[in-house]
Parts: sequence; C-alpha cells; structure tokens
Amino acid sequence: MTSNTARQDAAVVDKSVLANSAYADGRHLAARQSIYRWQQPQYDLPGIVVEELARTSRTVLDVGCGNGKFVSRLHKDRPDLQVIGMDISTGILADVPKPVLVADAQALPFADDSADAVLALHMLYHVSDIEATIKELARVLRPGGVLIASTNSDTDKQELDRLWARAAGDVLGIPEGPARVSLSSRFSLEKAHGYLGTAFKDVRVRVLAGTIRITDPAPLIAHLASYEAWADQCGVPFHETVSRAAEIAATTIATEGSFMITCLGGLLMCRP
Ligand SMILES: C[S@@+](CC[C@H](N)C(=O)[O-])C[C@H]1O[C@@H](n2cnc3c(N)ncnc32)[C@H](O)[C@@H]1O
Repeated sequence: MTSNTARQDAAVVDKSVLANSAYADGRHLAARQSIYRWQQPQYDLPGIVVEELARTSRTVLDVGCGNGKFVSRLHKDRPDLQVIGMDISTGILADVPKPVLVADAQALPFADDSADAVLALHMLYHVSDIEATIKELARVLRPGGVLIASTNSDTDKQELDRLWARAAGDVLGIPEGPARVSLSSRFSLEKAHGYLGTAFKDVRVRVLAGTIRITDPAPLIAHLASYEAWADQCGVPFHETVSRAAEIAATTIATEGSFMITCLGGLLMCRP
C-alpha cells in the first residue's frame, strides 16, 4: 500500500499540479511569503542575494523564479546584470520582469558554462530527481560562478504542523489527524548540504532563524489554505480542516494574545 507521505511526495513533484494548480499564478506563493511580514528578526532575502552576488558581473539565471521577488530586486539593484527568470509555470511568470522563459530545471535550455550565477530558491524540493537537477544547474554555471539555493528546515513552522494535525483530528473525530503536506522535506536544510556537496566543493550555509507572532488568524489561515493544490493528498476534507484550524487559532490568539510560529530556513552558497 502507498503511504500518505509517499503520495504527498509524488504530488509535490507532479509537474502538472505545480504548473496548472499550485503555481498557476502567484496567489498561493504570495500567501506563503506574506506571513514573514510578522517575523522577527526580519530578513531581507532578496537583499541578501544581491549582497552574495556582489562579485557577479554578467548573467544570472533564476530557476523556479516564481512570482519574481528576486528577479525584480536584481533588476532594481543590479541593472548591470542580465537576469533571466525561468519557471515551469507560464501563469506565474505573467508579472515577472522580462526576459523570462518557461522551462524545466531538469533540462535547462542553456549551454554549458553560460551563467555567472544560478539561483534555485525554495524550488529543489519540487524536482523529482534532485541530484540530477543539481548536476544540471552546475552544468550551466561557469567555473568560478555561484549557485545559491534555499530551503526550510525539517523543524520549520512546526506549530502549523501541530495546528493542522489537531484540526484534522477534530474533523475526523480522532485525537490527531494526518500530517499536513510538507513541501520542503524532500530537500530540507538538513539534507541540502549533502545533496549540493555532490556537485560543489565549497558549500557555505547561512542559517535564518526567526519567530512569527500573529494576532489575526487571517494570514495564518491563508498560509494553510495555500496548499489547496494538494488537497487530495491530505487524507482529510481540506476546507473543513482549514476552517477548524481558523477556529483553534482564533481561540489561541484570544487567550494568549498571539499565535507563535518558529521559523528556520537557510541559504546555501555553492561554488564548484
Ligand atoms: C516555492 S516557489 C519559489 C519561488 C521563488 N524561487 C521564491 O523563492 O520566491 C517554487 C517555484 O518553482 C517552480 N518549479 C517547480 N518545479 C520546477 C521545475 N522542475 N522547473 C522549473 N521551475 C519549477 C514552481 O512553479 C514555483 O514557481
């Protein structure tokens, strides 16, 4: 029998789900990004990437660029660079500054040694063959170039995992319901160094830890609801579970003043 985790993992890399549902437009990604507004300390991720690319002088390829948060910032802060946004979803590229192209990270339409920097930010957990994709990213990177990858820790936002399991349990009438879909676990911060070390000699990790305190359940619920593309893999009625989670979160905020979420993520700077 296929386990719930195996089914969830298969759905997290399903290109049709990714391009036509999860990232058909920027809505769900924006809901997940917006929660960081309440994080302390604040990290300016695009600013950190700009800083890390200080020695990069020509072409930057943002693979799986999503809604273009990093592409936009690079266009603004480094107009001297040629920045190319690339994603598997046509829809999500609509508002990303040009040039952009629709392509799969697993088969990049670029020559060997053609990019000075490659970004693979919060996207390597979505490819089915992570090792082969990292080799592909390394192939297009020129000698002396840098790959910047990012992901979340296995312990990231555990309070949301617990909230989901409790809400799912309430919906199903059992003490604890099935775990929510984890996007990053296939390429978590704990695993990323090992994967990237197979293709890159020098891997430097910048760990980003923080705490989000939310006093209104709406952004937290929008975050949980942004997993709608994977509703069929949840093993529990999705919308009912989101509604129950909203009630539990509202009670926590009323009694404790806020709902607290601990975050742990990181950037990995990789050189051949
Ligand atoms: C979590 S979002 C991250 C977006 C952006 N890099 C960021 O950090 O804000 C993952 C993005 O990777 C894209 N993606 C997933 N699999 C891909 C693949 N095989 N090739 C190219 N893009 C892919 C998705 O469509 C989505 O836009």
